Amino acid sequence: MAVRGPSLSVRIREFKDSDYDSLAEILNAIYPDHRTDVEDLREDDKRFDKERYVRKRYVAVDDTSDQVIAFGVYSHIPGMFDPQRFRVDIFVHPFWWRRGVGTRLWHRILEDLRDLKATVVLAVARESLPNGLEFLRKLESLAS
Ligand SMILES: CC(C)(COP(=O)(O)OP(=O)(O)OC[C@H]1O[C@@H](n2cnc3c(N)ncnc32)[C@H](O)[C@@H]1OP(=O)(O)O)[C@@H](O)C(=O)NCCC(=O)NCCS
Repeated sequence: MAVRGPSLSVRIREFKDSDYDSLAEILNAIYPDHRTDVEDLREDDKRFDKERYVRKRYVAVDDTSDQVIAFGVYSHIPGMFDPQRFRVDIFVHPFWWRRGVGTRLWHRILEDLRDLKATVVLAVARESLPNGLEFLRKLESLAS
């Protein structure tokens, strides 16, 4: 089991266009067998109908290095659309796991979802990475 490291000083800010490189780097570090690149990510965003649906990303920046080390995104689910139903995904670069960064992003996103009066929040974790399941269990237990 991974040991919890000391908490980090991070700031959470909205995603900017110049963050696509960091997004690709973080995803490829987490899922080396399913590599993606900036082009794919941009293309996916272009295809997402922003006129009809909400999709918003935040990034976590390490205060010491000024590096983007994680991101979180929430969005409507076009395939099963309900204005108050959202999917949330959080991705932290493995180097920074278990230091409270994912939890910080989760709380930031929940603030927005409360304002949007979300009634259903879906989050998915791959079984191949058990920390995702543990993370969601922990957040679920905090919410209940
Ligand atoms: C899941 C993920 C977002 C967690 O981010 P993180 O910054 O490492 O998580 P935190 O440090 O905030 O941990 C919060 C809690 O999650 C649980 N947790 C996280 N990683 C864990 C691990 N490796 N083993 C056991 N519990 C774990 C713990 O309960 C932890 O609380 P604690 O440290 O006080 O015990 C990160 O591991 C990741 O990006 N995984 C790949 C993508 C993914 O599965 N995302 C989740 C779907 S939304």
